Amino acid sequence: MATIEQTASLGDKTVRRIGFGAMQLAGPGVFGPPKDPDAARAVLRRVVELGVNHIDTAQVYGPDVVNELIAEVLRPYPDDLVIATKVGGARDETGAWVRASRPEQLRATSEQDLRTLRLERIDLVYMRLGVGGGGPDPVPLADQLGTLTELRDEGKLGLIGLSTASVDDLKTALDITPIAAVQNAYGIGNREDEPVLDLCREHGIAYVPYYPLGSAFTGGPQALADEPVIASVAAKHNVSSSQVALAWLLAHYERMLLIPGTSSVAHLEENVAAGSIALDDDDLAALKNVRHLSAPTF
Ligand SMILES: NC(=O)c1ccc[n+]([C@@H]2O[C@H](COP(=O)([O-])OP(=O)(O)OC[C@H]3O[C@@H](n4cnc5c(N)ncnc54)[C@H](OP(=O)(O)O)[C@@H]3O)[C@@H](O)[C@H]2O)c1
Repeated sequence: MATIEQTASLGDKTVRRIGFGAMQLAGPGVFGPPKDPDAARAVLRRVVELGVNHIDTAQVYGPDVVNELIAEVLRPYPDDLVIATKVGGARDETGAWVRASRPEQLRATSEQDLRTLRLERIDLVYMRLGVGGGGPDPVPLADQLGTLTELRDEGKLGLIGLSTASVDDLKTALDITPIAAVQNAYGIGNREDEPVLDLCREHGIAYVPYYPLGSAFTGGPQALADEPVIASVAAKHNVSSSQVALAWLLAHYERMLLIPGTSSVAHLEENVAAGSIALDDDDLAALKNVRHLSAPTF
């Protein structure tokens, strides 16, 4: 039987293992305001009511829209709330995701995060690598992390993380600065990132999978529901397939921190409740054989 620890350390902080990914609170395509701003506000209010104390956001969500909603609804922020953002990308006027990894761009995005979240310091900032695709970044990772360490020395951020990082990226980064968390695409139906996860285990680094439900971009939750092994474990526990996918992640590494994304209070409540599902050894053995489900490249 897998035991579920409800909290885990994230650098020098402790957070509940089920957090909240705020990306779904922006408009369609993560661009512009939400279709129903009051519904988005209700989700954020429920996040803190449920005791969630780890929120993942980014200046590029909207852009600015999601950060501004978070500040509007949640200030004054609860003392134990950890807010994480990402730098390295921007949106052009059409909404396309473009790279913004030069030192002055990293600084500008961080300053914009501080302004829109109305914070003096951001708890955790991920260096998001490879935004927009298009091959290797002309700015060396060492220079990108150099800018983040300067911002940390200036007191503008607390912890540094890496996102969409390879094993080599993480090894390079660890020679430069402590890395509190890695945020990469990973889930029960997309396990290609196991080598990075193993390196995180080795170093005790928190691992924060994005697309923990397979992503809105590719209808991830429906693919989970259609997967027969997941569906049978879900039926046995009388829970949903999405909850099984989250419980499986929790059982996979004690410093796995979840940030499922939702624009729905009902889904939020369901996702938080997944923290009390204890998968047994038979479940875990069966779930080992789940086939690869389609995952977005993003
Ligand atoms: N570092 C990066 O590059 C990166 C990239 C992508 C995402 N992220 C972060 O990771 C977070 C999670 O990723 P994500 O939001 O893209 O994908 P996700 O969590 O895998 O899936 C979100 C999708 O699942 C649905 N959903 C949520 N809970 C559900 C439930 N209990 N039952 C059925 N459907 C459910 C949501 O729809 P409803 O709104 O209808 O609930 C939405 O369509 C984001 O919010 C963001 O903070 C980071």
